[in-house]
Amino acid sequence: MDSMEVNKAVASVLVAGIAFMVATLVADGMVHPTHLAKTAITVDTSALNPAPAAKAEQQEPPVGPMIAAADPKAGDALAHKLCSACHSFDEGGKAIVGPNLYGVLGAPHGHMAGFEYSAALKAKTGPWTYDELNQWLTKPAAYAPGTKMGFAGLASEKERAELIAYLRTLSHNPEPLPAATAPEPAPAAAPAAGAAAAAPAPFGAALAAANPAEGEKLAQKYCSVCHSFNKGGKAIVGPNLYGVVGAPHGHMEGYSYSAALKDKQGPWTYDELNEWLTKPAAYAPGTKMGFAGLAKEHERADIIDYLHTLADQPEPLPAAGAASAPAQPSQGSAPAQ
Ligand code: HEC
Ligand code: HEC
Repeated sequence: MDSMEVNKAVASVLVAGIAFMVATLVADGMVHPTHLAKTAITVDTSALNPAPAAKAEQQEPPVGPMIAAADPKAGDALAHKLCSACHSFDEGGKAIVGPNLYGVLGAPHGHMAGFEYSAALKAKTGPWTYDELNQWLTKPAAYAPGTKMGFAGLASEKERAELIAYLRTLSHNPEPLPAATAPEPAPAAAPAAGAAAAAPAPFGAALAAANPAEGEKLAQKYCSVCHSFNKGGKAIVGPNLYGVVGAPHGHMEGYSYSAALKDKQGPWTYDELNEWLTKPAAYAPGTKMGFAGLAKEHERADIIDYLHTLADQPEPLPAAGAASAPAQPSQGSAPAQ
């Protein structure tokens, strides 16, 4: 009897609690985005020109150089004017209307544990990159239709760059700044040939002495569990590798690369492929290529020589270099180096 009473009492408290939570959530959903957005933001609209509904994001140039040049202090001031009604920025800070933003750059979308994100944001995969933050802050509702961030957006690219430069500092280990000048994915070919030729270095000699037929066998043995090599071939665990030499890092359309690899700028040169295959996790810490690396330089050279043949118009091989390259062009494996 008594215990029945207790159970009932507990149950009713629970029900009341749940009802209260639901009411709060509903109220949150209904009230904040409109209310807070208005009160928090109208204060400064004159100065800030929130993005007019439709335009702005069409054909923006890549924001990297702007961010590299932006002043994080100005971003700090803007964040406190524009965002702090809804966001805290300190490490371990609480959610307000929106999640805490410490460490958000490079973290997955919806990065704050326990925050109730909208389905719109939860559906976004991968980490927040500079470019994505730029799109998001231009017009949240366009980047993630259905988002519950009640903020119209910022039309000024300069202000977005400042804000993002500030967000970048909120980390023990800030991400590297985007390159100040380089356009994002280099249009392949020409710069690659240039870069490779400019740095013949020691590896050039190994490459000039390499044997692509040997490389093909090695690639079948070591790499083909995860990679296809034919033109138009499918991703397996890793991306298809046709045409990778001289192509931008992360060259396969539609393949979901790790942030580690996506952050690398410019085309794959011979030297970079050599470093990568020596130890992927050292070249791109955090990569998802589950391959320890190849210690033997002549094996790496053979494989890269083979990769270089996988193109409609193979890149020129680097000059054998002034180095005293063993002049035995395609004569199998040199003695292990
Ligand atoms: C009116 C309240 C409000 C304002 C103002 C606001 N935000 Fe938000 N923000 C939110 C909410 C709510 C979410 C969660 C969105 C969702 O789940 O769809 C969010 C999400 C975010 C996220 C994604 C976080 C993550 O963990 O993925 C970033 C980044 C962000 N806001 C940055 C900003 C910046 C920078 C400003 C100022 C320019 C700003 N917000 C202004 C409410 C706001
Ligand atoms: C266990 C699976 C696995 C093996 C074995 C493997 N890879 Fe990979 N590889 C991957 C994955 C996954 C990625 C994507 C890495 C990322 O996004 O961080 C990748 C990426 C690459 C890239 C970058 C492609 C681009 O588009 O930027 C190259 C080049 C590459 N691998 C070459 C090789 C070679 C050569 C071998 C054999 C010596 C090899 N891989 C062995 C899984 C593998």
